[in-house]
Amino acid sequence: MENPFQFGRELGADELVDRDDEIDQVSATIRDGGKLFVIGPRRYGKTSILKAAEDRLVAAGAILLRYDAEAYPSLDVLAAALVAGAAARLKGSIERTGDQIRTFFARLRPEASFSVSDRQWTVKLGVRDTENRAGQTELLVDALDGLEKLAAAQAANSPVGLVIDEFQKIIELGGATAEAQIRAAIQRHRRMGYVFAGSKTHLLTAMTMDAGRPFYRLGALRFIGPVPRDQFAEFLHRRFVESGFNVPASEGNTAVQLILDLAEEVPYNVQVLAHASWDQLRAGRNVREHALEPTVVEQCMERLVRQYDPFYTQLWNGLTAIQQKTLVAVIRERGSNLQSMKVARDVGKGPSTVARSIEALKMRDILREEEHLGNVRVRFEDPFFARWIFRFTVAL
Ligand SMILES: Nc1ncnc2c1ncn2[C@@H]1O[C@H](COP(=O)(O)OP(=O)(O)OP(=O)(O)O)[C@@H](O)[C@H]1O
Ligand SMILES: [Mg+2]
Repeated sequence: MENPFQFGRELGADELVDRDDEIDQVSATIRDGGKLFVIGPRRYGKTSILKAAEDRLVAAGAILLRYDAEAYPSLDVLAAALVAGAAARLKGSIERTGDQIRTFFARLRPEASFSVSDRQWTVKLGVRDTENRAGQTELLVDALDGLEKLAAAQAANSPVGLVIDEFQKIIELGGATAEAQIRAAIQRHRRMGYVFAGSKTHLLTAMTMDAGRPFYRLGALRFIGPVPRDQFAEFLHRRFVESGFNVPASEGNTAVQLILDLAEEVPYNVQVLAHASWDQLRAGRNVREHALEPTVVEQCMERLVRQYDPFYTQLWNGLTAIQQKTLVAVIRERGSNLQSMKVARDVGKGPSTVARSIEALKMRDILREEEHLGNVRVRFEDPFFARWIFRFTVAL
């Protein structure tokens, strides 16, 4: 029997808890030739939402290109990949596809070839300088313009869309001028739908919400929040029961609630802890050992943080003493009141130093800020790291 709790890959629509609204919005954006930014904390399920929307759109006859910008060393390589992706998705003979690619992407002078054995298109751009960032950005913009031409040539009921995950990487690669040039192109496009997603919350929000930046108000914003707790609890409960395990209901599913609490409801961490707990029950030899009790979850949590110990030790040792004390304060104060004199005393520095320390930890993606009902709370990106600090470094 396969473990029903999966992590470390994009899930399919039928494996996701909730997220129907998000998937609908991504699909509708592509269908209507709109523009959307999908922004959320790390490991909240952004990529899975994009994948689910892609599956749905493709099933409905759309041409959809989805790329993870982190996978590309420079923008000209991404541009070539866009053209190859378009070739792979066009219907018709190899010859006709080759002609279309040469027409739509004429400015890139593409040499497209189809490998019969791999059933794959490769594209080389027969052009200009790809040595500097300005030249590379220009190639990407030309590729986007080519996609718009391709989209305009499709039947009205066959939308064309581009989804770029980890979008902030494009701006890192192309610099500030890329931001303006890409915006100018995208703004002209009427047929193409664009969805940009990213996890570096501080970076992407600055890009899309700062009135001085080119991407300001280019499209709609969608923030990805937590999966509703009751639905997540119901999912966990059902999957354990379906696997034949005993989930004592008398205590109001304490163990299920404990999984959500220890993982701080971060979807990835919830799945990791549930996966480990399931494995432990599976290894049990009798009915008693097949019951999902809170002690099972506790033991698995302990085992997991020990397993990640080498990684966390390295991360911890790479921090300054002030940053370490700041993290301890975040745990103690549950992420609130970090500007208080008490915290300053604990850290041994003034509130402004504490604030700078928090900023540095945010830039390193160890902490993130969460706005909730007018309040700001600081949270760990990885709740298991907080658990490790709590267990192994200090007496809290
Ligand atoms: N709606 C959901 N229901 C259940 N599990 C989920 C859900 N969303 C995400 N997960 C869990 O989180 C894992 C990570 O999901 P995904 O890669 O889509 O997140 P992400 O936000 O793109 O992460 P990253 O920031 O690392 O790019 C999944 O493999 C799955 O275990
Ligand atoms: Mg992702």
